[in-house]
Amino acid sequence: MEKKGIYIKNLSKTFDGVKILKNIDLSIEPGEFFSILGPSGCGKTTLLRILAGFTEPDSGVVYLGDRDITNLPPNLRPINTIFQKYALFPHLTVFENIAFSLRLKKESEEYIKEEVTKLLKMIDLEAHANKKPNQLSGGQQQRVSIARALINKPDVLLLDEPLSALDAKLRQNLLIELDNIHDEIGITFIFITHDQQEALSISDRIAIMNHGNVLQVGTPAEVYESPADMFVADFIGENNFIEGEVTKINSDTCATLKNPNFGEILFEMDRNVKVGDKVIVSVRPEKIKVTKKKPENLNWKYNSLKVYVDEVIYTGFQSKYFAWVNGDKNLLIKAFKQHDIFFEDDDTDVSWDEEAFISWNFEDSYLVEVK
Ligand SMILES: Nc1ncnc2c1ncn2[C@@H]1O[C@H](COP(=O)(O)OP(=O)(O)OP(=O)(O)O)[C@@H](O)[C@H]1O
Ligand SMILES: [Mg+2]
Repeated sequence: MEKKGIYIKNLSKTFDGVKILKNIDLSIEPGEFFSILGPSGCGKTTLLRILAGFTEPDSGVVYLGDRDITNLPPNLRPINTIFQKYALFPHLTVFENIAFSLRLKKESEEYIKEEVTKLLKMIDLEAHANKKPNQLSGGQQQRVSIARALINKPDVLLLDEPLSALDAKLRQNLLIELDNIHDEIGITFIFITHDQQEALSISDRIAIMNHGNVLQVGTPAEVYESPADMFVADFIGENNFIEGEVTKINSDTCATLKNPNFGEILFEMDRNVKVGDKVIVSVRPEKIKVTKKKPENLNWKYNSLKVYVDEVIYTGFQSKYFAWVNGDKNLLIKAFKQHDIFFEDDDTDVSWDEEAFISWNFEDSYLVEVK
């Protein structure tokens, strides 16, 4: 197994007159755990099938390292794919499922035993080697498919929503295992998901797709903290959006917008805007502090608003507040409060059906769109 990157240039694909992939450029570096995240139908599987060689692109090129593999048949690509469904052979044991392609290649019994045992150890299923797939749990079966995909020592492993058939707890465990396997073998992983939590927690970098376009590529922190546009800001995590007209430029990084309902709001500028521009800024719910009393002596950096709390949802590690601004049900603001050990100095007694105050630092309000 060798560490090789995948380089995609100007890739396009049309099905039935509809452009499914639109001039995709992506560089996936050797050994990266790279995720492709996007809503259903945005073209993720189509892109993966082109990388695997199952689907031919209309135009564009795919490189594996410095080799152009665009026209190479799938069986000649040192790339393996794991799909959502396990697709194991039901009549073969776990051992033989993993050994299958080595048997086709007529490898020696000794080599097969050595290689399969190594992988069984890695996926922690040595004790289950002689079981049939239907005697395993869903998570165990998916681990067997991972081992089966790795037995040929591919340079790249493609994973198309491999965890989506599993329940939440199992998904999390297998995600950690996938991360460990990646650390151990070090090859490039390209992982498709429409679950943003999954992508954020495991990836070195993430590409966010919508309607056949790549909107942003970045580390989990980059796409979460500095989303490239409104779609990314909304798709990754939860967000509040405030629209308004720029009324003042306060400094190189701080400007003021005016919204008829929210009043004046300070926000951080990461690009040039001018007075009169129509903008949309975002603020993450966990950056907003909810208090019962009007905050006093607030630092100038803070925005503060009176709200009406419509609902409080307790979720264990945090509470979610849904509040209206100006008593208007259309102006909903979400604020999340973590229940950590520093809980005591907060107003924990803000409940539903009462007035409260929210405040946040302007540095947590990002510009997501200039119209
Ligand atoms: N062989 C095909 N023939 C015609 N249309 C296709 C074909 N394969 C995919 N499409 C269409 O291309 C679009 C993108 O499909 P794709 O499977 O790549 O989406 P996806 O992002 O993987 O979605 P999901 O998250 O639901 O798996 C869809 O509208 C789909 O109907
Ligand atoms: Mg898909």
